[in-house]
Amino acid sequence: MIELTVVEDAEAAARTCARRIAAAIETARVERGVAHVALCGGETPGRMYELLPDHVDDWRDVHLWFGDERCVPLDDPDSNHRLVTHTLLAQLHAGTVPPVVHPVAGAGDGDPPAAAAAYEAALRAHVPAGAAAAAQLPVLDVALQGIGPDGHTASLFPDDPALAERERLVVAVLHARKPPPERVTMTLPLLRAARSLVLLVAGAGKADAVAATLAGPSPHVPASLLGEGARVELIADRAAAAAVAR
Ligand code: 6PG
Repeated sequence: MIELTVVEDAEAAARTCARRIAAAIETARVERGVAHVALCGGETPGRMYELLPDHVDDWRDVHLWFGDERCVPLDDPDSNHRLVTHTLLAQLHAGTVPPVVHPVAGAGDGDPPAAAAAYEAALRAHVPAGAAAAAQLPVLDVALQGIGPDGHTASLFPDDPALAERERLVVAVLHARKPPPERVTMTLPLLRAARSLVLLVAGAGKADAVAATLAGPSPHVPASLLGEGARVELIADRAAAAAVAR
């Protein structure tokens, strides 16, 4: 089930999303004393990451993970870790104990499958399984995802074999349609196990992808597959929601 929230513009979408992520962090800390958050890359979330420190006063016991990462050095302009470092972490209020950031170690070492396996091991070591999790899946408290114009999310691309992965929690993608071609991505079982999933989308260029995401699950539209078994909120500005049937 994917619930649509439409707001006026990209800034309002970033603000609304920051409030949602902050609320999920607070709930997790109150209920379990720790919050595990997966973040995404791309152009859209940067503003939200800049706003997030205004909504989260205490980052102790908050763990930041990456729903996907490009296989480049962590300080490369294409790195999602670099994005978060230069936005969210750069905006932390003075004197704040920072969150624990879990980069995809080895992403830029030229062996994406090894980096994926190591990241899965780190997730399993740090993120508790949920009470009802049959497969002892680590349960993230919230996963923030974007949607590409082709309906991809994380680094799960249309009709890609990674969409069928049901055992591994993190896999390598070696021929991604969105450069750079080599990436590491969380898979659907892990993303769907999250306590909440937030999709943040803005701009007219995403209107068809948003409509397709809401039209029902399809391997041609990976973002549409997140809604199976998970509570998903899609936060979109009016431009990105323009093709959604009223
Ligand atoms: C990545 C992202 C990717 C992104 C979408 C949307 O690492 O590339 O995780 O899934 O969220 O491609 O990107 P934009 O926000 O740039 O449109």
